Amino acid sequence: MRIIILGSSAGGGVPQWNCGCRNCVEARQDGRSRTQSSVAVSADGERWVLLNVSPDLRTQLAAHRALWPRGARATPVAAVILTDGEIDHTLGLLLLRESAARLPVYAPAGVTALLGHEWPVYRVLSAYAGVEPRTLPDAQPIALADVAGAPLGLCCSTVAVARRPPRYARTAPAQTFDVGLRMTDERTGGTFAYVPTASAVDDAVRRLAGGADLLFFDGTFWSDTELTAAGVDAPTARDMGHLPVGGPEGSLRLLPRLGAKRVVLVHINNTNPILCRSSAERAEVEAAGVVVGEDALEFEL
Ligand code: MLT
Ligand code: MN
Ligand code: ZN
Repeated sequence: MRIIILGSSAGGGVPQWNCGCRNCVEARQDGRSRTQSSVAVSADGERWVLLNVSPDLRTQLAAHRALWPRGARATPVAAVILTDGEIDHTLGLLLLRESAARLPVYAPAGVTALLGHEWPVYRVLSAYAGVEPRTLPDAQPIALADVAGAPLGLCCSTVAVARRPPRYARTAPAQTFDVGLRMTDERTGGTFAYVPTASAVDDAVRRLAGGADLLFFDGTFWSDTELTAAGVDAPTARDMGHLPVGGPEGSLRLLPRLGAKRVVLVHINNTNPILCRSSAERAEVEAAGVVVGEDALEFEL
């Protein structure tokens, strides 16, 4: 299984258009940027599954040769999986509207419902090629397939992770809005756990991560009050449904002990001090053997 981090940043990216925090200022000065959260996965290197699709998808697809079309309207993108219904993980669907065929989109039932109603992307896209919504059943492995039903060589099981609904859907009926994925390459047996949003390191996360060759985990915030400390009028990390990485109750203490061979932080917010290479927080992450995710980082399992 080949895995590419298309975008390592949380919603807004780095720099974020309206942000003058230290990381965003430095990113503008140095001409460096991080695009928004998305991962590409392939068993055969030919057909790719996008895990979440961000507003930066167009740039991300152009940045990787493996994702370039093979002919007129012949994309290697075979399917999309959504792990939640947040804007930063779903807006890229609108950018795929030129698709020549209905696009298979795997998502938990609660997210499929949101995209048909509160955030009506599926309704809008039905006037274009449209999507083929496919439900990710809870805790039941499924074989991923392209639009024609051809198997992609990847088995995927889903575990619901505790988290609040997206902000635009606070009144939506209680359902599963966030899941983690455990993907296995049917040929190599390589196992990849993907948990970009999590409010706890709990049994759900342990089930996803235990024995995996690689774990990508929610690295949104270092501390609970990071946004307010940066001068932003915003809720705490925990109120936003993200377990902070640092501190005595943070994820960093627990991540190296989940039984995953490698751990990489993804969905990192622009205010997070781990983005600064010389910060004490970055040193703490690296000392724990955990990797700070970067755009274009690749893995083979
Ligand atoms: C999140 O990950 O918490 C959301 O994407 C934040 C948001 O943009 O509302
Ligand atoms: Mn997000
Ligand atoms: Zn910023």
